[in-house]
Amino acid sequence: MATLSAMKRDVVPRAQFNGDRSWKSFWESASSCRLNRVEAAHFIETLEQHVGLQLSWRVLDFGCGFGFTTGLIAARVASVSAWDAAANMRTQARDHLAAHGNVELLDLGTAIALPDDADFDLIVVNSVVQYMSADEFVGWLAAWRDGLAVRGRLVLSDLIPREYDVRRDIPAVLLFSLRRRTLLRALVEGVKEWRRYRRVHRSVPLLTIAPEELAQQAGELGLDAEILPANLSSHPARLSVVLTRR
Ligand SMILES: C[S@@+](CC[C@H](N)C(=O)[O-])C[C@H]1O[C@@H](n2cnc3c(N)ncnc32)[C@H](O)[C@@H]1O
Repeated sequence: MATLSAMKRDVVPRAQFNGDRSWKSFWESASSCRLNRVEAAHFIETLEQHVGLQLSWRVLDFGCGFGFTTGLIAARVASVSAWDAAANMRTQARDHLAAHGNVELLDLGTAIALPDDADFDLIVVNSVVQYMSADEFVGWLAAWRDGLAVRGRLVLSDLIPREYDVRRDIPAVLLFSLRRRTLLRALVEGVKEWRRYRRVHRSVPLLTIAPEELAQQAGELGLDAEILPANLSSHPARLSVVLTRR
């Protein structure tokens, strides 16, 4: 496993990805905004409410992005490992998390596997699955299962249901921003990012999930799936699921 300081080699010039329409290139060029922090705080609130966090837990924040959720989880558990497929995000997460002594940034390379000794009480995958291919998702589902402790939980959140039009997210984001008093910042910072998002989305659709198919895939991998009554992130029409080993 790589340490925080070892991740320095990940520095990637962002502009080089801008012409490439893939989700990987989108995240390689992303920069953080106030809304990301506010959304992370909301996510931790709902995660505590619906799943809980315990001081003894070892947690994996998979697809950690800027590291905002990682830092908030770290203050509530024993340790957090974090991984993101985009070098740009790992670099920003490393900077954000430098003061957290119980956070370790993993280096998983390109393999669809967690370290052999992975034994997590909780694996959090928030707002990440939609950027995967269907095959990649099934591969990771098996890898996450293998990385769970006996009573461990895998939380997949912000899953996009089938037939869902992502333009429906706009009013939900605006309402969320208004309630959190960050509407103006969200509008100013969000417009450019939304245009970039739409450009990639037209070329590469987001992965959508049907709960019954997910339950079947999970069942074949020896996992039980429970759909939560509310999505854990700020998009109310999306889904969150907790998976546990049988
Ligand atoms: C919307 S952000 C979510 C960040 C964070 N989970 C949060 O809740 O704030 C999506 C993140 O997923 C990462 N990602 C996308 N595909 C991934 C994959 N196959 N493996 C790991 N990370 C991935 C992206 O690089 C990006 O940082």
